[in-house]
Amino acid sequence: MDKYVIEGGRPLRGTVAAQGSKNACLPMMAAALLADGVTTLRNVPRLSDIETMAAVLRALGATIEWEGPHVLAVDTRGVDKYVAPYDLVRRMRASIAVLGPLMGRFRRAEVSLPGGCAFGPRPVDLHIKALRELGATVELEGGYVVARAAALKGKRVNLSGPAGPSRGATANLMMAAALAEGVTVIEDAAREPETVELVNMLGAMGARVEGGGSAEITVTGVDRLEPCEYEVMADQIEAGTYVLAGAITGGDVTVEGADAEYLSLFIGTLREAGVTVDVSNGAIAVRGNLPVAPLEIRTGPYPAFPTDLQPQMTALLSLASGRSVVVEGIYPDRFNHAPELVRLGAHVEVTPPTAVINGVHRLYGAYVMTSDLRAGAALVLAGLAAGGETNVRRIYHIDRGYEGMEDKLTSLGAAIRRLEEE
Ligand code: EPZ
Repeated sequence: MDKYVIEGGRPLRGTVAAQGSKNACLPMMAAALLADGVTTLRNVPRLSDIETMAAVLRALGATIEWEGPHVLAVDTRGVDKYVAPYDLVRRMRASIAVLGPLMGRFRRAEVSLPGGCAFGPRPVDLHIKALRELGATVELEGGYVVARAAALKGKRVNLSGPAGPSRGATANLMMAAALAEGVTVIEDAAREPETVELVNMLGAMGARVEGGGSAEITVTGVDRLEPCEYEVMADQIEAGTYVLAGAITGGDVTVEGADAEYLSLFIGTLREAGVTVDVSNGAIAVRGNLPVAPLEIRTGPYPAFPTDLQPQMTALLSLASGRSVVVEGIYPDRFNHAPELVRLGAHVEVTPPTAVINGVHRLYGAYVMTSDLRAGAALVLAGLAAGGETNVRRIYHIDRGYEGMEDKLTSLGAAIRRLEEE
């Protein structure tokens, strides 16, 4: 296992480019199953989660090859198995994205139940409901979601969940419906740009999907889909994390390839905190002014503040000039970073779904442990701001979602090394 050793307290300066979007890419890899042939995805980030999805597709009989540093070819001609095994799904719950395309094309799928995750329960009831509504039989057997259908028939399906729309269930339903009979209307569909990206890719494969980006998506089934070539959008959560690296170190950082529209609420929130943010020509430039002003934020489904930037934002607010309140509207327990930030000198008190952060003047280096991807990113940000040496342990969580984080931060002037944990 590797760790990061960070000598904090240096303002970061310079420019980095956003990687391709992990969360857009994962369902797009699964979507390749809808066609027989080779689908080529460009701008694919090199991440362990992408390798896990590749392993899931290989387990189904697909051949996956890197044709360039960020070009991935998914050849589905050999697909002859329909089971996503426990050993892979437990590593990454996004593996559930093969459920919809397997049902769409082969009318059978067995996908291990993903189980809980480090920041609380993440059920898949909406994914199951979606397939049942199209006429599939879906049972839970031996820890697997076992789905079968003689035929899938489109209908109006409401996907409202307790925390609003579900991205994963919207993706699975769109993919199953693309090859179903008739018209499926998804009510309360996810509206994130990653969902729009999947809509566009399905369109490039010959699917008839309308309404991407709105709360109602209409899918008119077709008989077959063709493989396609598609360039994956930039990763806005990664981009936002580097914007915060500039802010928390009082530095001057530009992130290229970031979509300011996607991040508009995040950018507005940073400005409210007193951070200078300039947006132009597909780049976001940030100039940190510490201490930031305290804030009240609430995460929610797009276009609300993204939960995937909440831990990193909490790290910034630990250096605010007063009391901030962060309410998690998606995952009430997503505060694994809080006790670790406290080890660095932050004052954070959590009563789910709320964290109260009393800003401090300084953070101090310490040993901290990562327990999930974005909590890990938050600890790196805090370590960059802290005086002295911070050891961030178990960074395999960070490798799931950030390609070469230490290289990008080093290019901005950070003192960060990857070492094997003793
Ligand atoms: C996606 O997960 C992202 N993952 C997550 O990013 C992100 O945190 C999440 O969306 C919310 O924005 C990928 O895109 C691969 P959801 P997903 O279904 O699709 C509840 C990261 O850090 N729900 O939109 O699994 C659920 O518990 C990761 O990169 C049900 O109740 O999330 C949550 O409260 C972590 N029943 C809410 O809906 C269901 O059947 C939204 O979840 C499904 C979800």
